[in-house]
Amino acid sequence: MNFLILGVESSCDETGVALVRQGKGAALPVLLAHALHSQIAMHQAYGGVVPELASRDHIRRVLPLARAVLAEAALPLNAVDLVAFTRGPGLAGALLVGAGVACALAAALNVPVLGIHHLEGHLLSPFLSADPPEFPFVALLVSGGHTQLMRVDGVGAYALLGETIDDAAGEAFDKSAKLMGLPYPGGPVLAKLAERGDPAAFKLPRPLLHSGDLDFSFAGLKTAVLTQAKKLGGALQEHKADLAASTQAAIVEVLVKKSLKALAQTGLRRLVVAGGVGANRQLRAMLDAACAERGVRVHYPELQLCTDNGAMIAMAAAMRVQAGVAFPDRRYEFDVRPRWSLHETLHERAA
Ligand code: KG4
Ligand code: ZN
Repeated sequence: MNFLILGVESSCDETGVALVRQGKGAALPVLLAHALHSQIAMHQAYGGVVPELASRDHIRRVLPLARAVLAEAALPLNAVDLVAFTRGPGLAGALLVGAGVACALAAALNVPVLGIHHLEGHLLSPFLSADPPEFPFVALLVSGGHTQLMRVDGVGAYALLGETIDDAAGEAFDKSAKLMGLPYPGGPVLAKLAERGDPAAFKLPRPLLHSGDLDFSFAGLKTAVLTQAKKLGGALQEHKADLAASTQAAIVEVLVKKSLKALAQTGLRRLVVAGGVGANRQLRAMLDAACAERGVRVHYPELQLCTDNGAMIAMAAAMRVQAGVAFPDRRYEFDVRPRWSLHETLHERAA
């Protein structure tokens, strides 16, 4: 097969479109072109994502982006063999835009469509990097909405090892940043500020660090950050970088320790990090150091593909089709799944 796949991502505040060519035989699919429009500037005035504005902006962006990737790959629309879209989880209205456009395009072209789970996109995005992983591996999936450790034995073979019982790691970054008065999107802004701060300046909790299992909890951290910010009062401004660095250190330490525990527990020697928080430099540095010490290989998506994008959706579709675990069809009536657990559809929780 030499399939050309158009992927559309519109689950939150980024519109992403990409073209992926499925490899021959066991060869990995190749990214031909991808284009992204981030809505950060639009939502910034509101301090967070406004769902209705997000949906409307996806409508404006998706077709121009599709034209841009086709132009970049120098391919006509009718060269597309399959259209993939993010079916969930995410904002319902935003998802409906991508699903609607994907199904309309596919119907016009008379090619099959495939709805993709957003997290599977993140999970498989490191296969687009210059240093792709090999199965099996432990995956640390850290996004704005999810924090999970998984055992991944192949495409579609995902076993949940542990997950957050409350806030996600990205949420912990975002909410802490907001409490410190930093602008949306909090995570990257907090991380940037942390570069100038002392990570040991404030003692913040490392929830569930010694819980013995692979679950996470980050809700208490933001409360601790709020308490510190209140205590500092007018002095917050001058200690902001230290508080940011201490917050980042707490989140990163828990993520690193639990990832190492998952590796030890499974006996696997390969770790894949995916999702927006995977762009965090401190997390990468700490994981690199800890894994090097233990002879574990770590794989990341390319930095620009850590956060939401269309390439990971096209890639997940290509890999699912190639592995024979997805069967795209020409049924164009679509639905979206705003709340959708990857494991609900795929696998039971690991013993
Ligand atoms: O995967 P993603 O783009 O969207 C979701 O599927 O949620 O992840 C977005 C999350 C946000 O919480 C954002 O603050 C966080 O990833 N993030 C970061 C960094 N870049 C993005 N967190 C910490 N450091 C970063 N450099
Ligand atoms: Zn995401």
